[in-house]
Amino acid sequence: MIFDRRPDNMTRITTGEQAESFISEQVQALRGQIGDKKVLLALSGGVDSSVVAALLIRAVGQQLTCVHVNHGLLRKGEPEQVIQVFRNEMKANLIYVDATDRFLSKLAGVTDPERKRMIIGGEFIEVFAEEARKLDGIDFLAQGTIWPDILESEAGIKAHHNAGGLPEDMKFELVEPVKILFKDEVRVVGKALGLPDNMVYRQPFPGPGLGVRCPGAITRDRLEAVRESDAILREEFARAGLEGKVWQYFTIVPDFKTTGVKDGRRAFEWPVVVRAVNTRDAMTATVEPIPYELMGRIVERITHEVPGVNRVLYDYTPKPTGTIEWE
Ligand code: XMP
Repeated sequence: MIFDRRPDNMTRITTGEQAESFISEQVQALRGQIGDKKVLLALSGGVDSSVVAALLIRAVGQQLTCVHVNHGLLRKGEPEQVIQVFRNEMKANLIYVDATDRFLSKLAGVTDPERKRMIIGGEFIEVFAEEARKLDGIDFLAQGTIWPDILESEAGIKAHHNAGGLPEDMKFELVEPVKILFKDEVRVVGKALGLPDNMVYRQPFPGPGLGVRCPGAITRDRLEAVRESDAILREEFARAGLEGKVWQYFTIVPDFKTTGVKDGRRAFEWPVVVRAVNTRDAMTATVEPIPYELMGRIVERITHEVPGVNRVLYDYTPKPTGTIEWE
């Protein structure tokens, strides 16, 4: 049975068995809907689009084309993992577009956070539409819409942005196989589909990516400092058993330098700010107390391994008054 809306009495999917039964129903339904036609999916590597990709690969295999747009603002190792999991392991039809130069040149010198978001969002649609136009005979567009997206757009909290923005002449029928699921259910389904844990249980990551963690005008060197320090932070949190226990943790590299000393010489370099917060709904957030020794290791590694950085700070601000992201 396939529903357009989540039935009030639907049992929450929490076990592998429940996930398997959801998967087999969806696979049947997707085959019924799609027939022998072709489907397109923008695959970011986030939980929702990854689960949709895995479901569609199981249902229609090579009739699915995934497009992964690397906007240059992804975390370390993310584009590589998308290629490894979907192209190499699941044998998906995957188009990988490295659009880093395009995005960074459009963003050069732009300091206003909302303008940065607009540029990133707009350019993303443009790159995706260009790829879609190169393909023949696509009838369906798959999306990782989930139930809270629908509820929030109905309540006027946020626009249901998934489909939004494609040029007028690009008309596809939508395929939204996880739209009646809550996020935790999507994760259980993803696990049952064989996706790796670090893809299924990953922390929320904003669409504009590391772009909003590089406050002010983005430069390649500061962006690399964000990416490298974020990778170290994630590694140390995982080693300390905090992965999956803290809602979101990341680094920010502000656009100013401070005086320090390295190898007996003056070093005028950036600080890295560490932020780690817990929340239920992202509307308010509390700060995660990081064990002193762990913080020491993080400071040691970031200041020694990340070029251009001589200091590490911890953001102790709850939301409100600070938002989770710095921009
Ligand atoms: P804030 O910074 O508003 O963040 O406290 C709340 C949650 O939303 C994420 N976030 C975004 N997600 N596009 C997204 O897809 C965005 O522009 C964006 N800005 C913030 C943030 O990471 C946190 O989980």
